[in-house]
Amino acid sequence: MQLAMNIIGDDLIRVEQQFVKDLESDVPLIRKVGEYVLSSGGKRVRPALLLLAARLCGYKGDKAVPLASVIEFIHTATLLHDDVVDSATLRRGIASANTLWGNEASVLVGDFLFSKSFSLMVVVGSMDILRVLSDATTIIAEGEVLQLLCTGELDLTEEQYINVVRSKTAILMSAACEAGAILGGVTPQKQKALADFGMDLGIAFQLMDDTLDYIATEEEFGKSIGHDLEEGKITLPLIHTLRQCKDNERDVIAAVIEKDEMSLEEFREVSGLVRQYGGIDYAVGLAQRYIQGCADHLAGFETAPVREALLELADYVVTRSK
Ligand code: IPE
Ligand code: IPE
Ligand code: MG
Ligand code: MG
Repeated sequence: MQLAMNIIGDDLIRVEQQFVKDLESDVPLIRKVGEYVLSSGGKRVRPALLLLAARLCGYKGDKAVPLASVIEFIHTATLLHDDVVDSATLRRGIASANTLWGNEASVLVGDFLFSKSFSLMVVVGSMDILRVLSDATTIIAEGEVLQLLCTGELDLTEEQYINVVRSKTAILMSAACEAGAILGGVTPQKQKALADFGMDLGIAFQLMDDTLDYIATEEEFGKSIGHDLEEGKITLPLIHTLRQCKDNERDVIAAVIEKDEMSLEEFREVSGLVRQYGGIDYAVGLAQRYIQGCADHLAGFETAPVREALLELADYVVTRSK
């Protein structure tokens, strides 16, 4: 992401400094858990999207950095809650907050970060941005609940899956881009184009995440491999496999999904089927198509380094290994 770093590198450093200020609380555990998660090396994709979108739209004011911090706060809150829901033990290559401090502390600090995000947004003072970001958090919650309802559902369709992905992940990336556009005060058409760019990028991002859950290494990915399968999460590589495989192979997959714990051997068996039936290629192919769509959304903006940086970020999404 070299192009992006050239343009917003300094702002991203300011975002990190902003986190420390925004974490202000008299309750020591909040600071402790908050700092632990925020300093553990996230990729900062959402703040980068907001900062780049604002630049693309000509914004030069001082509200982009605090808003970029807010968007990462929201993301961090969802991760704290998500790791409880998903019983995850590893996040960003280290023990997840719920592993160290327990589910209760993770949920409550997540609540603090959510609430704090809204206080910080009010300070920024744009009703339009408040609307976009509050709608996004509502949709994320819906997406996570929808996914919970789909757990272990072997007949989950690709369409249903994409709907969950749109809600739980892509909407926040879309909102980050749209907030940047609102700061820049561009036309409604351009605002929508950036929201659509973020949405397609976000869908591709989650498609790759779900693919990496089958093919990455734990060291690089920083999360447990095979965890989606173990948790009964039916993601696109598996959906595609289930559409193609024989009945006896479907039974093998069903048995692994139903069990609480999965052995390495069971994971290898299912991931072997996923590769054999082209589930990985299918999911990566679809992610690439969404990223191609990203370029179209930016066609109405003039050719400039910042537009190239956004397109580079989009390409990174489908080549990343962490
Ligand atoms: C993790 O998001 C949650 C998903 C949407 C897959 P990221 O991969 O952006 O997480 P960090 O912030 O870089 O760790
Ligand atoms: C990511 O969900 C979306 C949210 C955190 C709301 P996942 O459960 O798929 O992401 P990871 O794998 O835990 O990062
Ligand atoms: Mg998770
Ligand atoms: Mg989850």
